[in-house]
Amino acid sequence: MIVSVQKAAALIRSGDVVGLPTETVYGLAADASNVLAVQKIFDLKQRPADNPLIVHISDLNQAASLAETDSEDFVRLARAFWPGPLTLVLPKKPQVLDLITAGLQTVALRMPDHPKALSVIDVSGPLAAPSANRSGRPSPTRVKHVEDDFSKSFPVVEGGTCNIGIESTVLDLSGDAPAILRPGMVTAGKIEKVLGKEVRLESSGEQKRRSPGTRYSHYKPEASIHWMESPESLDQYRPDTLYIYHTFPIDKSYSNIVHFKNNYTELGKSLYDLYRTADKKNYRQILIEPFPDTSQSPIIPALLNRIQRSLSQ
Ligand code: TXA
Ligand code: MG
Repeated sequence: MIVSVQKAAALIRSGDVVGLPTETVYGLAADASNVLAVQKIFDLKQRPADNPLIVHISDLNQAASLAETDSEDFVRLARAFWPGPLTLVLPKKPQVLDLITAGLQTVALRMPDHPKALSVIDVSGPLAAPSANRSGRPSPTRVKHVEDDFSKSFPVVEGGTCNIGIESTVLDLSGDAPAILRPGMVTAGKIEKVLGKEVRLESSGEQKRRSPGTRYSHYKPEASIHWMESPESLDQYRPDTLYIYHTFPIDKSYSNIVHFKNNYTELGKSLYDLYRTADKKNYRQILIEPFPDTSQSPIIPALLNRIQRSLSQ
């Protein structure tokens, strides 16, 4: 059920959970200071209790009330990238609920770049919000996806199709050196430019240890997901397969062949929608053309990460 920004803020203040648009994916938002409301997020998503939530803020005073924000690195990054698709993991202040941080001594903060999300937070205060999908399903990039995972009567603020479509970069600033726990649209290169020092991209093993969410299988649809052996595998064209191309020229036009014509930003916007469509249409498999190289677009490393986590073994 579509609700206004005012109604969403009122629902959140009374302890309810609401779907909110951001520039990355839709979030499932609750008042970060209300333990019962935050518990509802875990129950609704069937999310494991050891997977901490990001707290969304709309100004820097809110950030300072939740975490240690005095470091030069934090100040520079917030100035350069907020509002935007960068989540910063910082030492937490004592008042942050253990439920949100899954008992960790750090809290993840993000200022989303969506006017409606910012307007709600201005009224309601900081919001704990994971992606608004049931655990194990792809993140939602449209209101319809949120309704599919919860119900038509579930309150959601309409914010259109998400601009980026892939979740934020998670950068840990609580250790000796900045480390990327989840790649996203804000790349290591962009962060290094702002900080003037090297940023580590954690190995998947280390990501799992330090960012509990990456431990869980990202999305296992009915359809199995594979890289194409070679783009010409279209020679063995099957109607029960969804083909995703970026570069290889093809002239066939069927509804199960999509071509992004080197537009990786567009692929980022569409990937989760395609995964969901494949399940709706009962496709048996999804074949994705391998990426040529990661320097062609800043979103490719993030796309690679998400696709790799959804591959069938
Ligand atoms: O783009 C996004 O980040 C979206 C929108 C709604 O903001 N949110 C999102 O939330 O993707 P979620 O819950 O699906 O993913 C949050 C990730 C998880 O991998 C979680 O483990 C990690 O952030 N995380 C949260 N708090 C953390 C902390 N204190 N230390 C390390 N990782 C943390
Ligand atoms: Mg998620």
